[in-house]
Amino acid sequence: MDIINLLKLDFNDEDFSHIRTIRKSVFNTELGISENELFDKHDETCDHFLIFDGKNIVGSVRIISMDHIVKLERMAIVKNFRVKNYGKNCISQIKDYYSSKGFSQIILDSIYSVRGFYKKCGFVEEGDIFQRVGIEHIRMSLTF
Ligand SMILES: CC(C)(COP(=O)(O)OP(=O)(O)OC[C@H]1O[C@@H](n2cnc3c(N)ncnc32)[C@H](O)[C@@H]1OP(=O)(O)O)[C@@H](O)C(=O)NCCC(=O)NCCS
Repeated sequence: MDIINLLKLDFNDEDFSHIRTIRKSVFNTELGISENELFDKHDETCDHFLIFDGKNIVGSVRIISMDHIVKLERMAIVKNFRVKNYGKNCISQIKDYYSSKGFSQIILDSIYSVRGFYKKCGFVEEGDIFQRVGIEHIRMSLTF
């Protein structure tokens, strides 16, 4: 498996500009989600991770902590770097990191058409399909 590294940062770090670029290209340009939906108040307080392949920034994700659970959001691998196991590897590292901090579950709201990726990472579907930003989603969870 290709090795990737995660850099943890927060909203005030200079490198947050890379997260802006990635979200704009993946969620706005590619998926057509409005620019107004790309950032919200959670960005100021949650954990952010940039994903590196050793040479390039290949993606980003944010994590919101709640009691014993974390919520994974805005998972994005830049188009040219997909299907190289970077996403799966990232989730595995996120799981190990938050497990070591005493958390026992990751939840997320998957774009419905992408749920197969999260299933490959060990997540299971929960509940019904719902609409958000005009796209079908489903809640998924991974308990450890
Ligand atoms: C979804 C996404 C994060 C997957 O990242 P990735 O690095 O390409 O995925 P990986 O290479 O780690 O794939 C891991 C496994 O999931 C599979 N997979 C990848 N994308 C998939 C998809 N969209 N649907 C179903 N399975 C998928 C891979 O084939 C691989 O399977 P394997 O373990 O049998 O080889 C990436 O495609 C992406 O950023 N998409 C656009 C933004 C998006 O939809 N984000 C999710 C918001 S909920």
